[in-house]
Amino acid sequence: MEDNSKIYNRQATISTPQYIGYIVGGGLKENLRVRLTLPAQEIQEGGFVVVESGDWLFYGLVVDLQLGATDPRFADEQSEMRLPAELAGLLHGQTLFTNLEVLPSLMLERGPDPSDKARYTVWTAAHPNPNPNPLPVKTVPPHHAPVRLAGPGDVAEIFGQPGKEGNFVIGYTREQNHPVCINLDKFIQRSSGIFGATGTGKSFLTRIILSGLIQYNRSACLIFDMHNEYGFDDTSSDTNQRVPGLKSKFASRVRIVGLGRGGKIRGQAPDFNLELAERDIQPEDIELLTRELNLKETTPTTLEALVSSFGRERWFAEFKAMKVGALVEDENGKRVPAPDSVAFWANQSGVNVMAAEGLRSKLNRIFDLPYIVEKPAADSLGEVIRALEGGQHVVLSFGDHDHDLDYLLVTNLLTRRIREAWVQRTDDFRTRGEKEPRPLVIVVEEAHKLLNREMASQTSFSTIARELRKYYVTLLVIDQRPSQIYDEVMSQLGTRVSGWLGDEDDVHAVLSGLAGRDALRGMLARLQPKEEVLLLGWGVPMPIPVCSRRYDERFWEDLLGRHPGPRSESDVLKELGF
Ligand SMILES: Nc1ncnc2c1ncn2[C@@H]1O[C@H](COP(=O)(O)OP(=O)(O)O)[C@@H](O)[C@H]1O
Ligand SMILES: [Mg+2]
Repeated sequence: MEDNSKIYNRQATISTPQYIGYIVGGGLKENLRVRLTLPAQEIQEGGFVVVESGDWLFYGLVVDLQLGATDPRFADEQSEMRLPAELAGLLHGQTLFTNLEVLPSLMLERGPDPSDKARYTVWTAAHPNPNPNPLPVKTVPPHHAPVRLAGPGDVAEIFGQPGKEGNFVIGYTREQNHPVCINLDKFIQRSSGIFGATGTGKSFLTRIILSGLIQYNRSACLIFDMHNEYGFDDTSSDTNQRVPGLKSKFASRVRIVGLGRGGKIRGQAPDFNLELAERDIQPEDIELLTRELNLKETTPTTLEALVSSFGRERWFAEFKAMKVGALVEDENGKRVPAPDSVAFWANQSGVNVMAAEGLRSKLNRIFDLPYIVEKPAADSLGEVIRALEGGQHVVLSFGDHDHDLDYLLVTNLLTRRIREAWVQRTDDFRTRGEKEPRPLVIVVEEAHKLLNREMASQTSFSTIARELRKYYVTLLVIDQRPSQIYDEVMSQLGTRVSGWLGDEDDVHAVLSGLAGRDALRGMLARLQPKEEVLLLGWGVPMPIPVCSRRYDERFWEDLLGRHPGPRSESDVLKELGF
């Protein structure tokens, strides 16, 4: 079946080639130069082109267009003023031209045209593998090799056939609207990232990708939904239209969890509420909030002393019960720290009283959080884990608890517990042959708040990013400031999808560790401000800019297969732009 489609595609591209020029120079290091045989405005930066060179095809991206002249005089003189129009036209045709600079990425041995039976038979005999994979370019096509725009078959050859299992259409090529797929299995095999300045379409694209992942259902998704965007229906900020949430479309597969008892999300009751137990709060969780709570460098010492006095499960409750500045009179009538005071404990434990009292006061913000309770009403954390293991997906909505403090504390604590569970399941699977763990994708917005340089060594997130998929857990990070994410984490991201970025450092961060960076930098900076993204990284065969798929009724019909009936001819024509 696949073989047939390959042949079909090959013929399709052979029968309708859109030739645009031929190779005139360049090389592997400095990109290929192509003499354009069309007016310059018909080709744009980022165009996906194919160079035909005998039995091989080379695939690349247009990264620059340059005006050239056989002699600078012809370019300098405005000869159309001096010569009759026809003559000027002829002269220009001979002397003035446009060159494309093409960044070559992949090469593929296509073999001879199947219609050339004799050669084709010899070639197939010598190539028992009928579906060769594209290779990274290692050589160059010869002078004058013809160059054409990639057709739908070429795009499918490189990025995968739409409709084939695991292939998910994420957007369309900019020139000719051919669908471009990402492979979802590859997407979840390493952590990945969605970037772009505010308003470029990150949240919309995330909805699209999550819908694809949920529909495909090979992995569980845990979404930390700081702004309550993904679960219930939302309203678009710029068009005021209703934006369906994942719960409306996947009612039984998606569970919405609200933070804190009785919390409502956009006026609706979640499936269940999440409360954290005091005994779950660990010193690491507090240290992570150093910047947020403006904690002193004495904090780790004080926390350590608390743990050695009360143990990891009791320290939080005990410290919470202590009073700052409480005094009693001793037998000599002298005022001394009361037994339930911070100072009393500090003196006994050999800890600096000022440091301990200072920390106790600063932690009031944590002690006052309504969703941290002595005994949660239900084992809601366990329920989240069971839902994820049992084939469901969880959206954790923060409701009104949308401060950075809430986000940092809850995401980190939950991620640590979930990772522990997955490490355990992985060990059981490897050593005792138990069921293989279900892959899990943890989705975090505003990722730089959790994965910045300062916190990188402390959060469970950076551990997950570095482990690749060893324990079946990966991240999907969404961020408008990728430069603030720790470089080591950035360079581990397999698939990167980036919208327009205005800041040099952000552009640099998104491209970190990738080949062809210089050429791609300009392309990223010149994307449309909305709904255009560059696909990059190990998860895609080669970089390519695409128009994002639209999140609309059509999307849902395509994804869930609920076509109202066969599409009418007029619909098809409308889609084709007539
Ligand atoms: N794929 C898309 N389909 C439909 N509308 C989109 C899409 N991408 C962006 N938009 C429009 O652009 C606006 C901003 O997108 P959004 O995802 O909220 O940006 P970001 O999360 O990057 O700030 C949305 O309100 C929506 O109207
Ligand atoms: Mg957003």
